[in-house]
Amino acid sequence: MTDTVPALEALTIEQQAQLGSGADFWTTKQLGDVPSVMLTDGPHGLRKQEASSDQLSLSGSLPSTCFPPAVALSQTWDPQSVYRIGEALGNESQALDVQVLLGPGVNIKRDPRGGRNFEYFSEDPHVAGALGTAWVDGLQSTGVGASLKHFAVNNQEWDRMRVSADVDPRPLREIYLRPFQRVVENAQPWTVMCSYNRINGVHASQNSWLLTDVLRGDWSFEGIVVSDWGAVADRVAAVAAGLDLQMPGDENGDAQVVAAVHDGTLDPALVTRNAERLERFARVADASRRPETTWNVDAHHALAREVAGKGIVLLRDDQNLLPLEPVGSIAVIGEFAAKPRYQGGGSSHVHPTRVDIPLDEIRALAGDAAVEYSSGFSSATDADAAALREDAVTVASASDVAVVFLGLFERQEAEGADRPDIELPQDQLDLLEAVTAVQPRTVVVLSHGGALRLAPITAGPASIVDGSLLGQAAGGAIADVLFGVVNPSGRLTETVPERLEDTPAFTNFPGERMHVRYGEGIYVGYRWYDARDIDVTFPFGHGLSYTSFSYESLSVETVGDEFIVTVTVQNTGERAGREIVQIYASLPGSAVARAPKWLVGFGSVDLEPGQSADVTVQIPRDELGYWDEELHGWVVEAGEYSILAAASSRDIRLQSMLAVGSDPIRYRLGSESSLGEIMRDPIAGPAFEGYFAAMFEQFSAGEDVDFTPILDSSPFGRFLGSLGGAIPAGLVEDVLRRANTANGFE
Ligand code: BGC
Repeated sequence: MTDTVPALEALTIEQQAQLGSGADFWTTKQLGDVPSVMLTDGPHGLRKQEASSDQLSLSGSLPSTCFPPAVALSQTWDPQSVYRIGEALGNESQALDVQVLLGPGVNIKRDPRGGRNFEYFSEDPHVAGALGTAWVDGLQSTGVGASLKHFAVNNQEWDRMRVSADVDPRPLREIYLRPFQRVVENAQPWTVMCSYNRINGVHASQNSWLLTDVLRGDWSFEGIVVSDWGAVADRVAAVAAGLDLQMPGDENGDAQVVAAVHDGTLDPALVTRNAERLERFARVADASRRPETTWNVDAHHALAREVAGKGIVLLRDDQNLLPLEPVGSIAVIGEFAAKPRYQGGGSSHVHPTRVDIPLDEIRALAGDAAVEYSSGFSSATDADAAALREDAVTVASASDVAVVFLGLFERQEAEGADRPDIELPQDQLDLLEAVTAVQPRTVVVLSHGGALRLAPITAGPASIVDGSLLGQAAGGAIADVLFGVVNPSGRLTETVPERLEDTPAFTNFPGERMHVRYGEGIYVGYRWYDARDIDVTFPFGHGLSYTSFSYESLSVETVGDEFIVTVTVQNTGERAGREIVQIYASLPGSAVARAPKWLVGFGSVDLEPGQSADVTVQIPRDELGYWDEELHGWVVEAGEYSILAAASSRDIRLQSMLAVGSDPIRYRLGSESSLGEIMRDPIAGPAFEGYFAAMFEQFSAGEDVDFTPILDSSPFGRFLGSLGGAIPAGLVEDVLRRANTANGFE
């Protein structure tokens, strides 16, 4: 959105205020020669209302491809695939005359119960930032704008329009804002959508620190800030804070803005500035329209199937049961085989162009094998669970292998509600137990948007295939993996915990009395399980393949502000396959609390049997940084970092050391600065060294105890008195002034 356009001239302040809210639910106002723009959900397909655009209705949208939701997209760990999906979504948007698609969602999966986790990428900010960037780049390459959402710290559905996410600066910057920062800085989305919730007490929609200081100041955002639908509590405060567009339309809000200008409580320059941004946005969006665009429904379905296949995670395959041989007989059990679960409920719900039925797709690839189906359980509340189970057991025992589809129903996970637990339904667990008792050769296929407790099913079936939510081509993609047409290569982007009680936010979710305390700090996802050495059922980054890979060598090179990590990987098995290489960093002895390791990059490679190749991952130096709460900035501290090449967060294959020099660290020095901070300053240290060296010596003389730590952390000012007149008058003031000036403070 860098095109320059003439400044807004012809509009009155009333009209400028009117530009700042929608014409209806999905469009902005056409005013003067400023064109109207249509925005629609998002993210994994288009939800464009069929007839009028004056309603929120969650049904009745035009058909469009339901691509894999973010939960599965992220499991590809493949920015290229995500880019292609973004591009395809852009073409469908162009064809349906939509200028902004409301996505991607890059909020962190803080707690597995979060009701919209299926719309988000990961518990890890690097994964969410990298894939969110690819999504926006792909979409915007077609001339359609993204709306990066929900900004910010929107990690639960409970009390979502009022709750205050109370977060400390480090987790805020390092975990929750980081994916937004990455996407804004690397992809410049046309719009950012502010969230419903409050952050440390202030509504996102009227949070000038968030919308102006951070988003525009720190990250140089150039687009417009749009409210989530209904997120504006006080329009005048929102305009003052940096919100450009209130959605949907709100005439009262427009009038309030004008009144505030007239009574002097709102600077008219702010209204004009917003209107200018909106005008530029509308003109660019309008000029980017390509109404002649068509899309090939079959090609997009094929893309949805290909990427869904890449997002499937093979969690376990103990007896090498997979891929299935297309001979003998196969029992297909579970209602999801006939009525697939492939997307979540709420505003992201897409009316698909078609839906692959897993049972049909299995039959299509089963060759000579006989395929028998039994539903085993039912979504109907009045179903006879015992009878359904019995029938499934009969079918399973008469077959050579059983494939059992389990998961959650759409009503169990949708926007607007968090889940009460992370359990599979009891009748499904009973079914699986009964089937595995008669059929040891059992494969489980899972469909679900949020993480599940899988401990109850890991002992039973031989294999577990995690489909999460795969979009409209789920059925075909699952069949491809079951029969080895696709060798699974997906990896988890969210930890599967052993128990809900083990999860990081367990004692702090979802909060009470309109507040939720982010008490776990930076220890989110694997950072928590690693720090506390908690066993998990499947770790972050886990996923198996039908072949095997060895990691041969690891090298790390520093080039300018980047580290180039090269890992040589060999396919040591019998099938072609794709390996995802994860790169983590670690810094024992850091100056601040750190996770034992954190993801700094990843890459992947396709290899034929026996083939080896290098995977090169470029890691910007700032991936090593932490947010310094005293300096209010990012700091890369000096140290010997471990660089780990891994197949999962708990499967480290190779390690190398990397010596890193420090960023310039500048503290304002004063009487509360510690002696250590004074001594380490290049100006103050040498100036006072003589005085303090004697004191350090005097303290420690004849003692076994090392007093250095206590002296190092003692406030400088408190020692000036005890040193009597040892330091000449005026020297302290003069040295501190020179040091602070050199450090850019005065
Ligand atoms: C959701 C957004 C969505 C918007 C428009 C809101 O309720 O939070 O994600 O884009 O509605 O449907």
